[in-house]
Amino acid sequence: MPLTPSSTREIPETEAIPKHIAIIMDGNGRWAKQRYLPRIAGHTQGVEAVRGTIKACIERGVSHLTIFAFSSENWRRPAEEIRLLMQLFLAALEREITSLHENGVRFRVIGDLTKFDPKIIDCVRHGEALTASNTRLYLTVAANYGGRWDIMQAIRKMIAENPDSAVNFDESDIASHLTMADAPEPDLFIRTGGECRISNFLLWQLAYTELYFTDTLWPDFNASTLDEAIRSYQKRERRFGRTSEQLEKQQERQQEIRNTILSKNKI
Ligand code: IPE
Ligand code: IPE
Ligand code: MG
Repeated sequence: MPLTPSSTREIPETEAIPKHIAIIMDGNGRWAKQRYLPRIAGHTQGVEAVRGTIKACIERGVSHLTIFAFSSENWRRPAEEIRLLMQLFLAALEREITSLHENGVRFRVIGDLTKFDPKIIDCVRHGEALTASNTRLYLTVAANYGGRWDIMQAIRKMIAENPDSAVNFDESDIASHLTMADAPEPDLFIRTGGECRISNFLLWQLAYTELYFTDTLWPDFNASTLDEAIRSYQKRERRFGRTSEQLEKQQERQQEIRNTILSKNKI
């Protein structure tokens, strides 16, 4: 598998529209509480927000969307909430896979699925196989996912493939075994719900991602709140360790090259 650029080993190309957006969809419970509804009503409305976000990402030309649906720590929640969440996940999968496929979305789940109901696992594997050759939007759902789990499983795989790598390995040996190895690192991370933390999401991949936190609760997230996040992203200066002056010089050089090409084409 070809390795995608690592932000700590090279300087990735950046564009006005983030290629990869990663979202922690938080605030479903509080959304429901504000309306005197059970927490599951917030999760159900959250699925609608996911649908809208997928559509908005496609329209804006985002190529990768990764959403955190259930963390490895969410098993600590009350058993009844977990049961309802699993039911909702299964129902959403059964309902949405065909339409994702028709819209050219490649669907994938990352996380340790072994603890899930076999029906969910079947549905996920069916969805992944059905959409495997789509390229319009790479949608990754993180379920029973944890950033530390991801790094640990990568190290285990690396050593199983090549026992010598236990004593001699570098960044790319781990990176190539992470669950998101074939995706560019996220350009923009969004967390709704007002908390300013990563909650064990893509720990490795967020090294140089622009972070955006909003008080909007996930069920209220839509195309215009996505645009606010993208506008904030567009104002950031992504230095990847360099100075502002270096970036300005680089931009001047690029402009000179563009001008030269333009003037040559006129002759
Ligand atoms: C996020 O919303 C959804 C999941 C973690 C499954 P929450 O359920 O965490 O909502 P709040 O944070 O309690 O409002
Ligand atoms: C993070 O939300 C995980 C998901 C959105 C799936 P949590 O609500 O579980 O995060 P904490 O507990 O507030 O950090
Ligand atoms: Mg929460």
